[in-house]
Amino acid sequence: MPLELIQGDIAAQNTDAVVTAANKELAGGGGVDGVIHRAAGPELLRAIRAIGGTPTGTAVITPAFGLSAQGVKYVIHAVGPIWRGGQMGEAELLAGAYRSGLQLAAAHGCRSVAFPAISTGVYGYPLDRAADVALSAAQAFLTDHPEMLVRFVLFDSGSLNVFRRALERLQG
Ligand code: AR6
Repeated sequence: MPLELIQGDIAAQNTDAVVTAANKELAGGGGVDGVIHRAAGPELLRAIRAIGGTPTGTAVITPAFGLSAQGVKYVIHAVGPIWRGGQMGEAELLAGAYRSGLQLAAAHGCRSVAFPAISTGVYGYPLDRAADVALSAAQAFLTDHPEMLVRFVLFDSGSLNVFRRALERLQG
């Protein structure tokens, strides 16, 4: 199964596409987004400002600018939901952000894509629930796109373990 879980820095990946956890205004931000923008350079912010925004649960794609030095072709800006207790459609919106990102990567000919744990930082989505949604979306996509490598890059060992346990649950 071409699904990888690693501990690391999303901005240090050499996959064809890397995904950032954006906001719907595409205004740039902190966390993963700050790290990606610092690595890619100011052209990335200009590119998303030109797009202007995208609804929660969707994603947009831009060139990778400075990240191309390490082999990355595209940055995908995926907008997950803010956690509001779980009854506000958060799971479907988070799944949508992953699906949209995966579809954009495939449509642009990418063979590999690296994701952070979208919505689990500032947006407060519980990590174990987010892992179930993220991994289910990736598995469903990989059924139709077995040629794609999907890598989840978790920032610390605790998050990696949560994702590992979720994958075990999913694979039963
Ligand atoms: N590599 C991989 N994962 C990381 C890294 C890194 N370098 N740094 C942090 N994480 P967040 P969100 C983890 O807050 O919750 C921004 O301002 C972090 O531990 O970046 O979707 C945007 O512009 C957490 O588990 O994204 C939006 O306004 C996960 O990445 C808003 O924050 C996501 O944390 C989006 O919030």
